Amino acid sequence: MSEQRLRVSSARIQIAPSILASDFLHLGDAVKAAENAGADRLHLDVMDGRFVPNITIGQPIVQAIRSATHLMLETHLMIVEPERYIEDFQRAGANLIIVHQEVSPHLYRTLQLIRDSGARSGVAINPGTPWESVRDVLPVTDLVLVMTVNPGFGGQRFLSDMLPKIRAVRAELDRRGLGTELEVDGGVDLSTIGQVVTAGARVTVAGTSVYRSREGVEHAVRELRTLAEGALPVGSA
Ligand code: DX5
Ligand code: ZN
Repeated sequence: MSEQRLRVSSARIQIAPSILASDFLHLGDAVKAAENAGADRLHLDVMDGRFVPNITIGQPIVQAIRSATHLMLETHLMIVEPERYIEDFQRAGANLIIVHQEVSPHLYRTLQLIRDSGARSGVAINPGTPWESVRDVLPVTDLVLVMTVNPGFGGQRFLSDMLPKIRAVRAELDRRGLGTELEVDGGVDLSTIGQVVTAGARVTVAGTSVYRSREGVEHAVRELRTLAEGALPVGSA
C-alpha cells in the first residue's frame, strides 16, 4: 500500500487496538472492525519467546494486515536483537517500529536506523525500567511507550504504580518542547484510560477492552475515546 493512501489520524487521543486479543481465525474481520470503529492506528505485538515468554506474530502477518487496511500500523517488537529486523518490518508495512530499551544496547543507533528505514521510531520501557534510561535518546524518538503490565500477554491487570512514570515522561517532553508521542500499553480499559490520559499519555493501546468487549468493538472504541477526551487537561494541545 502506498504511503499516500495511509490514513493518518490527527486526533488528540489516539486509540490503538491491539489485535492480540482478537480472534486470529478471523483476523481480517478484526482489522476491519477497528477501522470501522474509528480507531486511529493498529498495534501489532511481535513476541519471540525469548525477550518475553510468549510467541505471537511476525512479518508475514504484518504484511497481510497491511494489505487489508489504510490505518497506521505500529509494531511493538518484544524480541531480542530488534535491530536485525527493522528493514523486514518496515518492508512488511509498519509505519512505526517500537523496540525495547532493555534489549537495545545501542539504542540511539537503533532508533536512527528505524528512521533511516522510513518508519517512525518508538522505544518501550518495561515496568521495572526507569524512564531516565530513554532521556538521552528522545531527540531520535517519535514515540515513548510506557508499559503498564509486564510484557508478554494480553488481559493483565493495569499497574497503577506506573502513573508517576507517565507523568515524569510527560513533564520531560513538555519541558524540552518535544513533540514525541507518549503511549501506554497494558490493562487500558474503561476504568483506567482516564488515569493514563490525566497522567499525560495521548496514545493508548487497548486489546482486551476492545476485542473482548461484550458491546462490540465500535462501542468499546467510542466509550474509550469519550472517557479519554473527558480526562484531557483543559487547554492541552
Ligand atoms: C502485552 C502487549 C499488549 C497487549 C495489551 O505484552 O504489549 O499490547 O496486547 O493487551 P491488554 O490491552 O489486554 O492489556
Ligand atoms: Zn504491545
